Amino acid sequence: MRKILKLTNRRNFLFGLSSLAAISAGVISRGFDRHQKIEALDHHQRDFTVSQGLSLKERAAKKGLIYGTTSTKKYLTSDPAYMAAIVENCRMFVPEWEFKWTAGNALLRPGFDRFDFSAADWIANFSATHQLLLRGHTLVWHSSLPKWFKETVNSENAEQLLQNHIQTFVKRYAGKIHSWDVVNEAIKTEDGRDDGLRITPWLNSLGTNYIDLAFRLTSAVDPQALLVYNDFGLDYDTPKDEAKRDAVLKLLAGLKSQGTPIHALGIQAHLSPGGNNKFNPEKLRQFLKDVASLGLKIMITEMDVTDKNLPVDIKVRDHIVAGVYEDYLATVLDEKAVIAVITWGLSDRYSWLSEFEPRGDGTPVRPLPLDTQMRRKLAWNAIARAFDNAPQR
Ligand code: XIL
Repeated sequence: MRKILKLTNRRNFLFGLSSLAAISAGVISRGFDRHQKIEALDHHQRDFTVSQGLSLKERAAKKGLIYGTTSTKKYLTSDPAYMAAIVENCRMFVPEWEFKWTAGNALLRPGFDRFDFSAADWIANFSATHQLLLRGHTLVWHSSLPKWFKETVNSENAEQLLQNHIQTFVKRYAGKIHSWDVVNEAIKTEDGRDDGLRITPWLNSLGTNYIDLAFRLTSAVDPQALLVYNDFGLDYDTPKDEAKRDAVLKLLAGLKSQGTPIHALGIQAHLSPGGNNKFNPEKLRQFLKDVASLGLKIMITEMDVTDKNLPVDIKVRDHIVAGVYEDYLATVLDEKAVIAVITWGLSDRYSWLSEFEPRGDGTPVRPLPLDTQMRRKLAWNAIARAFDNAPQR
């Protein structure tokens, strides 16, 4: 008996040891796996040298491209250095808050029949003063809607509300807008509809035709503006992004086939290296080609590169972020239908990601071309190199 016990104990001991080894191997391999993924991303040997002298907007313009950014009246009026950096580097500007129904400290739509244009007018004047091409963002979105919206809007009054919004707001700036994000983020395949449409108050109150209606109303009021459908989650070789690319392509093809006055796709390009996001340039190229084959232009409308999944070491983070900027832009700028690149902010001091996607370790995020002191980072060099190496439009 004792012998069996001894054997059993020995066997249990060996089993325990092997399980411990397996678990720790698993943990180590996962750690290695994650570390390898980071290592694979981190091009600390990679060179981001760039020729001196030209700003981002000048490098973009040399290739027939437009570079721009977003910001708010609040940031621009309180930070002259930031305003100067934007004017120096940007040809295009898109308000982060002031052209939405409500966002931040802006309230364009205080009521069903009411508008407050003060903040939007300030943005339009700022853009005109500094010869910035102005983007309108965004007319129809499920987010940034005032409290009264969900309490008031229904299938009886939604069309009147949408018509009044577009005919009043778009008319006010007609002829001054380079492009409108007419509809934003209307696709969400996880909502389970065959057409992939996101279930929103607009869909619920107006049906699937709300998208075509919004484009037709906008075109009627400002025939000069480029009319854009804008969305995110189109970038990576993941089942979710693949499904979204398919649904967006079907939406765009359907709109074009019914004569909707749509001119471009806006790809937000909120990028996130590390984690399970695999970047597959060939897949992205094919998607851009498919969009362009519909006769549409393409704008990269909200680009930033979150470092939330990257190591705390700033040198490592900045290298990886820069590599993502250059690799992504090298891919998309090969497609000549791409006409503009807008980063969602110019300086880390004002990135929405500080609040929306903070790092787990609490260290400040570093997703944008300039640091919090308006100094150029490797990401600035990476964007500059991508413009310098882009094919001429
Ligand atoms: C964000 C702004 O950056 C935030 O300041 C605001 O509180 C919410 O909206 N996709 C979009 C943008 O189309 O309008 C969003 O901007 C970011 C995600």
